[in-house]
Amino acid sequence: MKDRLEELRREALAAAQDAACASTLQEVEVSFLGKKGRLTQILKGLGALSPEERPAAGQLANQVKNDITAAFAERAGALKLAAFEAELAPGSFDPTLPGPGPSPGGMHPVDLITRELEDLFLTMGFQVADGPEVELEANNFDRLNIQADHPAREAHDTIWVQRASQDSVGLCMRTHTSPVQIRTLQEMGAPLRVIAPGRVFRQESLDATHEHTFHQMEGLMVDKGIAVPHLLHVMNTLIEGVFGKALETRLRPGYFPFVEPGFELDARCSFCETGCKVCKGTRWIELIGCGMVHPKVLELSGVDPDVHSGFAFGLGLSRIAMLRYGIEDIRWMMGGSISFLSQFRK
Ligand code: FA5
Repeated sequence: MKDRLEELRREALAAAQDAACASTLQEVEVSFLGKKGRLTQILKGLGALSPEERPAAGQLANQVKNDITAAFAERAGALKLAAFEAELAPGSFDPTLPGPGPSPGGMHPVDLITRELEDLFLTMGFQVADGPEVELEANNFDRLNIQADHPAREAHDTIWVQRASQDSVGLCMRTHTSPVQIRTLQEMGAPLRVIAPGRVFRQESLDATHEHTFHQMEGLMVDKGIAVPHLLHVMNTLIEGVFGKALETRLRPGYFPFVEPGFELDARCSFCETGCKVCKGTRWIELIGCGMVHPKVLELSGVDPDVHSGFAFGLGLSRIAMLRYGIEDIRWMMGGSISFLSQFRK
């Protein structure tokens, strides 16, 4: 037993020294020290020794095991150092090469559509305007001719930040981008052409086309002699610009207190032939509310409706993005899923 152990130690130390790389070294180590390794095989024979011989043989076996383990650890360290030095050797390492750069981010589908529409409207002489997400009740409703008893004022639609009282004005999360009409009319007066993309908020029962937080884009054009044909021309240009072709659309009467006449523009559902959950079986998706600016709205913002007229529209940017990119559920938009968002890299 003693001779076999000594022989094994000699062989193992030599084999460790001969191993030229880390993976060979590991294989050789397993062949000596592994569960089915040669040392284990010898140790199995300990039980057959006489009680007198056993303690000395056991002690030697432990020592051999420790020596072999140390030799392999030492050789592993030496190989690692050699590999590192080889990497640093002149000619084999170029510290001036760029590192692995950051992985590129993606644009949100709503931002992609917004930028395209901004570019399109800039070519038609529109400016891009902005407004706050927490809005005065007066701008979100009163100055848009939405009476105090209008259903949209009720709590199921509006997220209130501060209710109006004797000492405070009413504040809400804007329920649409239309208050930007008021802000720009008051700041810039007529004539004007503006678009205003942004986030809006509603208390909604959520489904494939309804979110509590979604994006709209407002448009407003006020000048002398503006009429419905101007509105239709701009709507058709918009649809063609976004979808690259004239999409089947329909215009139906729509009631918005701040326009007269008012329309709803719907687009053909691109997800189905016979009706689906996106279009709720109707084959039409409601995209844009629009109409001729109500004379009262112009008047309330200091523009003379006998001199100027205008059209306004408010489109659901999130729904446009859904149609354009074939996204079946609006809830993906705010879900923050990286695998969803990384598909829109540009
Ligand atoms: C309005 O918000 C009006 N301010 C639009 C308008 C502006 C009309 C100017 C006339 C003149 P409406 O509530 O229909 O209207 O919303 C406009 C568009 O926003 C809808 O056509 C739809 O595409 C989108 N939209 C409405 N509710 C949601 C929702 N919960 N989730 C996602 N998109 C929505």
